[in-house]
Amino acid sequence: PLVEDLTGIRKKEALLQERLGLKGCLIVSGDSDSQPDVKQAMGRVTNDLLRQQLPSADSIVAVMGGTTMAAVANNLTATLTDERNLTFVPARGGMGESPDIQANTVCARMATATNSRYQALYLPELTSEATSSSLRREPLIAKTLSIIANANVAIHCVGDAMAMAQRRQMSETDMATLTKRQAVGEAFGDFFDQNGQIVYRVPKLGLSISDLEKMDLVVAVAGGHSKAAAVEAYFKIPPTGTFLVTDEGLADMILKK
Ligand code: G3H
Repeated sequence: PLVEDLTGIRKKEALLQERLGLKGCLIVSGDSDSQPDVKQAMGRVTNDLLRQQLPSADSIVAVMGGTTMAAVANNLTATLTDERNLTFVPARGGMGESPDIQANTVCARMATATNSRYQALYLPELTSEATSSSLRREPLIAKTLSIIANANVAIHCVGDAMAMAQRRQMSETDMATLTKRQAVGEAFGDFFDQNGQIVYRVPKLGLSISDLEKMDLVVAVAGGHSKAAAVEAYFKIPPTGTFLVTDEGLADMILKK
């Protein structure tokens, strides 16, 4: 039965890779919506994937926040830096999440786990473009942003649009905009609808989805059946060439359609 199960999962990986236009797909069994251990399993698989896929030269790795990314941080190992140096940076400023799952915290924990360096970017969640442009010119912020702009690897999550808007306490007005524009998902502070059209961008400093195009390696980690619509829509947005680490709960939800 174990061999049969594995074959089943390998088949689903191939189907999902094809369906979403992925560079590669890895599925762990279970559903992280109801089984917290499954996020840790996705973290272990992400560590294995990084060990195989990270460029051999030194890399700057941009990471996002969230509970999934925190689980990835828990499972990274120093084997990743056996033959290379890594510098971790948060993909965007914005501390709207609780401290233990902010991108800055995730990136510090990843650096500790892999004996690497990191550069934090401490900024509040921004609400105006004017503030974000003036902060961009602050010398220390500009210096960190230039490191982030040179990131050649990204590890990120995809979130359900309304769940993220609520958790980050976005304003009533912004929530109404997301509802009206039928946002289903969010990544890098960009909200998108089921067709992969960006319908709202959070004012921010750091990376956007379009910046992934120039990267050597992009890994998305997202599981749970409740994120199926968000993940399916996310992969309609260019660029392509992302590895997805997910769980069967999410994979089955997409594949059964
Ligand atoms: O952008 C997506 C969110 O950071 C996902 O958060 O991993 O807690 O679901 P989560």
